[in-house]
Amino acid sequence: MKILAIETSCDETSAAILTEKDGRPVLLSNVVSSQIDLHKEYGGVVPEVAARAHIESIIPVIKKALNESGPKKQLYKKNAYAQKLYQQSLNEIDYIAVTYGPGLVGSLVVGVETAKALGLALNKPIIPINHLEGHIYANLVSNVKCHLPAGKVGMSNVKCAEPKFPIATLLVSGGHTMLIYMKNHLDYKIIGETRDDAAGEAFDKGARVLGLGYPGGPAIAKAAEEGDASKHNFPIIDLTEPPKRGADGFLKYPKPSLDFSFSGLKTALISTVKNHGPLTKKDKADLAVSFQKAIVDTLVQNSLRAVEEYKPKTFILSGGVAANKMLRETLESAIKKSSPDTCYLIPDTNLCTDNAGMIAAAAYYRIKKARSSELKAQSQFAAEPNLKF
Ligand code: KG4
Ligand code: ZN
Repeated sequence: MKILAIETSCDETSAAILTEKDGRPVLLSNVVSSQIDLHKEYGGVVPEVAARAHIESIIPVIKKALNESGPKKQLYKKNAYAQKLYQQSLNEIDYIAVTYGPGLVGSLVVGVETAKALGLALNKPIIPINHLEGHIYANLVSNVKCHLPAGKVGMSNVKCAEPKFPIATLLVSGGHTMLIYMKNHLDYKIIGETRDDAAGEAFDKGARVLGLGYPGGPAIAKAAEEGDASKHNFPIIDLTEPPKRGADGFLKYPKPSLDFSFSGLKTALISTVKNHGPLTKKDKADLAVSFQKAIVDTLVQNSLRAVEEYKPKTFILSGGVAANKMLRETLESAIKKSSPDTCYLIPDTNLCTDNAGMIAAAAYYRIKKARSSELKAQSQFAAEPNLKF
């Protein structure tokens, strides 16, 4: 089985080829063309610029992904040979997967229409995929590093076996922050989510306040390397309701909240900067590391609560913010300490931020679950910028 996946929901044009080996999904190629340099001067993604860039990149990116998936991928640059390889790989495709939401409408449309055109030309089924589902399934391609429970063989660099359910996942991206519980594949229950900003959005806004540029997450993480986290004390928000006195006169303590809020943290950073005067490079580093620590501690606090309440066998970290080193390491050691039997999974950083490999992985599990009558060449779907989970 071979899946060609396309992802164009925001500012990365990406295509990937996935196959099945020993009953597990394996990526053969995962090509990402980033638009960061195009949006940098505006301090954020400009939707119109993003859509145009996707149109220019989508075909070369698909061709490259097809060529790189072939057996002689080192030769793909030689034109005539590349053309041959690419056609050969295209003929081997069984399914086309594409992100159809959520995201920027102009960006999504480019991927969706390309997938439909290819599906029609090749007469192959198209699998529309929710971008958020893709982030979760980035953890389930067998290239992913598996951090086994303490006491079992090896802590990292271990190729993962099929994960054990139930799974709990912290999904942290530029637009979403959620805790999700999965009893089985493709079966989701949202158990916590942000009431205002997403974690990635907090990083991006924080970086803007500190004048660190775009994209904010990597910029804050880099500045933070030189910082001293004890210089500032930013709040860790806990949305748990205060105790209430019951009819029997005793205080009743509500369940610890699994929801998030980051807008107060952003305000705390803005007022600290306002009261500070001109910022040196060292001042920015101290603020960046304390700000990053507050976001990470909030995410870890609620993740541990979810583990405590739902007792998952596997905990998955996913989304662009999962590329953050402090988050990856702090969460791993917290889960190992509080729940040593829980398997902790995080993808390599290139599978955390937007890429088509994760869309291919989600499509693989959708194909496995679907009845063949459901997998027909279809064009009865459209880009859905506000697609819900
Ligand atoms: O998943 P993603 O690539 O796109 C969305 O679906 O939104 O996530 C992008 C978000 C951005 O907010 C970016 O600042 C953040 O992920 N991000 C990071 C890091 N790399 C990307 N945040 C913190 N540390 C990082 N290393
Ligand atoms: Zn994303």
